[in-house]
Amino acid sequence: MPADSKGRIEPGFNTHVFICGHSRNEGATRPDCCSKDSMGLLTELKKRVRESNIEGIRVQKSGCLDFCENGISCVIYPQGEWYSLNGKEDIEPLLERILNGTPADEIEMKLTEKS
Ligand code: FES
Repeated sequence: MPADSKGRIEPGFNTHVFICGHSRNEGATRPDCCSKDSMGLLTELKKRVRESNIEGIRVQKSGCLDFCENGISCVIYPQGEWYSLNGKEDIEPLLERILNGTPADEIEMKLTEKS
């Protein structure tokens, strides 16, 4: 079976993590994740995943995931789980979830009620 330049024989990842990197202009009606330093968290998470040496995990920036009021928005597949990240302290539970399957209820996204 032919392999690609990274030795893979089929497309896909075991776990795919998306963190919103969308930004908006000042005065926009909705908040954005980038102004909450989502890219800082992305960089840190990538580093930590790389250091784990576990293959098959892809962490990447996404466009707006449309849950802006609950951001920093993060979703992982194939689990289809959504998380709200508030700062570097949330990297650890997310990492535990990704690497070891430990539930990360404390960072699970909970939608805010419409007022
Ligand atoms: S700006 Fe991040 S979810 Fe919309």
